[in-house]
Amino acid sequence: MAKNILVTGGAGYIGSHTVLQLLLGGYRTVVVDNLDNSSDISIKRVKELAGEFGNNLSFYQVDLRDKPALEKIFSETKFDAVIHFAGLKAVGESVEKPLLYYDNNLIGTIALLEVMSAHGCKNLVFSSSATVYGWPKVVPCTEEFPLCAANPYGRTKLFIEEICCDIHRSDSEWKIILLRYFNPVGAHPSGHIGEDPRGIPNNLMPFVQQVAVARRPALTVFGNDYNTVDGTGVRDYIHVVDLADGHIAALRKLSDRSIGCEVYNLGTGKGTSVLEMVSAFEKASGKKIPLVMAGRRPGDAEIVYASTEKAERELNWKSKYGIEEMCRDQWNWASKNPYGYGSPETNHS
Ligand code: NAD
Ligand code: WQD
Repeated sequence: MAKNILVTGGAGYIGSHTVLQLLLGGYRTVVVDNLDNSSDISIKRVKELAGEFGNNLSFYQVDLRDKPALEKIFSETKFDAVIHFAGLKAVGESVEKPLLYYDNNLIGTIALLEVMSAHGCKNLVFSSSATVYGWPKVVPCTEEFPLCAANPYGRTKLFIEEICCDIHRSDSEWKIILLRYFNPVGAHPSGHIGEDPRGIPNNLMPFVQQVAVARRPALTVFGNDYNTVDGTGVRDYIHVVDLADGHIAALRKLSDRSIGCEVYNLGTGKGTSVLEMVSAFEKASGKKIPLVMAGRRPGDAEIVYASTEKAERELNWKSKYGIEEMCRDQWNWASKNPYGYGSPETNHS
């Protein structure tokens, strides 16, 4: 029998790519998303890309904090596991509106966990973030590193990780996998789904992509005096399809008898500087990205990349794609959808 998976935040960037991999892997998938930071066009496109498996996808426009609506969904389907992506993720916004972040991310998660527990669904994969490593003193980051949060967004990830561990301690039937993503980039190779941030992008590659399609004049490089290969910040960029596959590996791991509450990094283990990434994107797109050098962005770390050993060993998962493929697929998505899922008229940035 095909397994039923509930995906919260499944209309979003990482969620939509994961839902597609789930469908292609034979899972029946229910998406819950309030569309606060996404469009239902992504759901329609995922359905199309999944071909005959598209019939195994249903979508509910529901906010996680709406417990009666969640209850109804759980009473209609018996879920084998939940993959929980839904949350707000803009670091700067979280500093300006901390209560919005605590309300949405924490209350939403607590509501979800309560409803899961009430319906006997105690298998969870949660989207955590490399942000919990703060400013690592050494790299690569292993899962045992000390954790810290530099902003309210990061604190919601830390709190939810702790909540998950507490739940497992209180009830050993829970099996929970916390996935710490590094820097997801790229898009599905079809170019039909990808990242579509609202407003001014906070992250490097969505900004680069918008410069390439002439929506913005230049990329501001935040700092070129770091102790790195060319002075710019170094990160572990990971193709979003690799990341999506990491979730399938995590679901398989949940079938282990005693997984408990375990944490895994999902990264490539390789560090790439801002200028190296820009140059790879220029090569893939044939577009020149004008640069403006600026000071460091407050709160930024110098070098962050993952130790991938634990995920390789225990999830039997390893990234397949390099920065060339990430940039190729990002450009394919951008050139086919310069305004994401919207149009110049619907775009207010
Ligand atoms: P995204 O914004 O594209 O997707 C999140 C989805 O959750 C959106 O579709 C949004 O509408 C939905 N959502 C938010 N609050 C909700 C609520 N209360 N109820 C229902 N739906 C809600 O973001 P993404 O990049 O796909 O990130 C997915 C998850 O991964 C997030 O939890 C994010 O914090 C985490 N993460 C992202 C990155 C990254 O760089 N993209 C890195 C590490 C971790
Ligand atoms: C990458 C590099 C910037 C934009 C953020 C979140 C973190 C996590 C991942 C969710 C850095 C530089 C960026 C620009 C630039 N998300 N940059 N010009 O900093 O690793 O982390 O995304 O959990 O919480 O904080 O990613 O893409 O913002 O930056 O020079 O316009 O690009 O300084 O060196 P980061 P990023």
